[in-house]
Amino acid sequence: MSLLKEIQNTALAIEQEPIVSKEDLEHFRLKYLSKKGIINQYVEAFRTVPNDEKKHIGQPLNQLKQLAENFFKNKQEILENLTLSVSVDRDLSLESNFYTTGSRHPLRQVEYDIVSIFEAIGFVPYEGPEIEDDWHNFSGLNFAEHHPARDMQDTFFVGEDAKHLLRTHTTSVQIRALEKFTPPMKVLMPGRVYRNEAISARAHCFFHQIDGFYINKKVSFADLKGTLLHFAKQFFGVKTELRVRPSYFPFTEPSVEMDVSCNVCQKKGCNVCKYTGWLEILGGGLIHPNILKNFGIDPNEYSGFAFGMGVERISMLKYQIKDLRLFSQNDVAFLNQF
Ligand code: DAH
Repeated sequence: MSLLKEIQNTALAIEQEPIVSKEDLEHFRLKYLSKKGIINQYVEAFRTVPNDEKKHIGQPLNQLKQLAENFFKNKQEILENLTLSVSVDRDLSLESNFYTTGSRHPLRQVEYDIVSIFEAIGFVPYEGPEIEDDWHNFSGLNFAEHHPARDMQDTFFVGEDAKHLLRTHTTSVQIRALEKFTPPMKVLMPGRVYRNEAISARAHCFFHQIDGFYINKKVSFADLKGTLLHFAKQFFGVKTELRVRPSYFPFTEPSVEMDVSCNVCQKKGCNVCKYTGWLEILGGGLIHPNILKNFGIDPNEYSGFAFGMGVERISMLKYQIKDLRLFSQNDVAFLNQF
């Protein structure tokens, strides 16, 4: 009869089992329902019970098993619903931990946009060093030794013998590309340049340029205009117009400066374009025959155009930024706008 008593006690104990987690549930299963669990032990013991007593014990034992199984299932369901409702009932409007991920610097973004436009029409990006020698920055580009054009670009010289300098324009990379490749070639050269200038809203001692050039048979001035008009329309908008003014650079002949129609006032006149309707964006021209000759390219067979633009200037025009220094001050409030 003690087995019967035990079964009855166990039935009471089961209903007192505190089950609030999956671990509790598993503990319960092992304790009561597993092979070595209490109920199976009773089943084993039941076998040895004399036959005439079996009928008093068999039924309560079955009931105990049912009870334990139902209890287990019941709790299992509750726990499952609980985890489900926790994930569904979450307040999704609640702000989670706030991570700032950072973003591209506006100059990088503009550089990337410009390079992408030119890449799409076959220009290949190429980079050169920021520390250059006189040849790549000046002489190779047809700057005569004592020509005042060298003074147009206030140069930072490097080292005591001043044999090296911080490049004053990315046109130096044109020389590097000509050393390496042969025509036909269509190259785009982005990079940082340096000039010994007092820092102000309109000038800085370092800034960024993108030069480009194309050499092939029969490249004409019309190709230069067509290429740059395509760029201007892609970058500033389809209504943009291009204006060409004569200029001077030692490495191009003829040389020009190019303006785009003001994208703020559509040529009506505003303070961004200083009421002229036009914005200067770059210099360019047809590559001087002396440069082609320097690299054994016959100017009667090949011709080319070249251009160079300032990334800061173009960014300022596109986003109407009034002070160049903002680009290098790392003010998060400024940078977050891009
Ligand atoms: N290097 C010139 C500057 O820094 C810009 C320039 C003008 C680049 C004409 C060119 C060019 O490639 O053909 O002012």
